[in-house]
Amino acid sequence: MSKPSAIPAVRGFRDILPEECRHWHGLESAARELFALYGFGEIRLPILERTELFARAVGETTDIVEKEMFSFRDRDKEETAVTLRPEATASVVRAYLETGLAHRERHARLFYTGPMFRRERPQRGRYRQFYQIGAEVLGRDDPLADAELLVWLVRYFDRVGARGARLELNSLGDEACRPAYRERLRQFGLAHLDALCADCHRRLERNPLRLLDCKVPGCRAVIERAPVMRDSLCAPCAAHFDEVRALLDQERVPYALNLRLVRGLDYYCRTAFEIIGEGEGLGAQNAIGGGGRYDGLVAMLGGPDVPGVGFALGLDRLAMAAPASVEPETGPAALILPLEPRAVAPALRLATRLRDEGLAVGVEPAGRSLKALLGVANRRRARLAVILGPEELAAGRATVRDLASSADRRQALDLEAPGPELARWVRTEVGT
Ligand code: HAM
Repeated sequence: MSKPSAIPAVRGFRDILPEECRHWHGLESAARELFALYGFGEIRLPILERTELFARAVGETTDIVEKEMFSFRDRDKEETAVTLRPEATASVVRAYLETGLAHRERHARLFYTGPMFRRERPQRGRYRQFYQIGAEVLGRDDPLADAELLVWLVRYFDRVGARGARLELNSLGDEACRPAYRERLRQFGLAHLDALCADCHRRLERNPLRLLDCKVPGCRAVIERAPVMRDSLCAPCAAHFDEVRALLDQERVPYALNLRLVRGLDYYCRTAFEIIGEGEGLGAQNAIGGGGRYDGLVAMLGGPDVPGVGFALGLDRLAMAAPASVEPETGPAALILPLEPRAVAPALRLATRLRDEGLAVGVEPAGRSLKALLGVANRRRARLAVILGPEELAAGRATVRDLASSADRRQALDLEAPGPELARWVRTEVGT
């Protein structure tokens, strides 16, 4: 029979190995600690939602909805089109309405972590399954809510050592002032049609704001001269933006105005921002986070007129921008080495006992020489090797070798029912 071939992961999907997970845990727990200080509670959301939720919330004409969603029909209910979530803001709002949070406490502060799915062209820093840490504040339209989130972000970057992260800020106006701006932009685009790419021609008809997002160099040169939203803001939007900026200045939050910043999702109004990272290998995929205000979204999803503001950080990219702590992974306090099959049961008993006492312990299978097993213990950077050979079994004592000094010591043990003495001794030896 021919050897079966290996099955690779799906393109754009990847594995996160233990060392990287340790780094990610650090980033996630720093976020959890800081969220607690800012009054956020965690929400765990489903990964699968009805396609309609994202089509309506993110926008039919966005790249995400037009070409990047993993959507399929549910097998049991052929009529239900479902989608692996490409983002979580829409889900948070759905949950806010569906679980009754909207009625119980209009003002809700929620955070989430987890995988999102977008069918983008995979490259370094851009995956089809990626992870976000996000936060949403519902029921607040005051600039203070926006400013608090931005202060959270800079404090977070300080904590995790992502020193190069830069905040870019803009205001996208609202339904009162944006339609007129959209029309100005459309007229501008029509006047420069010859210089714009085919995608931009399409954007001009369907969603002119997307013009500002085009990466084609020829289009960029035109867009540089395009009118900006700031000059068209209505008085309430301008006042909101000024107040956000004043609060950021007070807290000494550094940011750059980027008057051409538009976001890839349609629900935004007023404050919009992105965090641009600096880090080894981030390359073109250097947006480590983004967010903004979405005052119309709750109503758009069938709820009352409740404003919202939030952000999401891309954990995959954040991990590239924030250095991993330099501490090398420590090996187990002890590795238990049964030299023969009879020693396996006492070895497991010992390991369980030591683990019950809170010590990290490994146990090897029997059947190899002492030399080979000691080699394993050294490679795994164990502090002590606990040797259980025929002599040890006969004498009811384990030989405990300090792997740094190679000094042996005999430790009396009741191999039938080991007591806490070995754990105490291991602790003193390894200094924990
Ligand atoms: P977004 O800008 O689409 O916003 O995504 C936020 C972050 O997720 C990005 O800045 C990036 O770091 C990461 N990200 C996005 N796509 C990928 C990918 N294919 N591979 C790796 N990382 C990626 C949102 O998702 C909004 N829901 C944020 C928000 C929350 N706005 C208000 N509340």
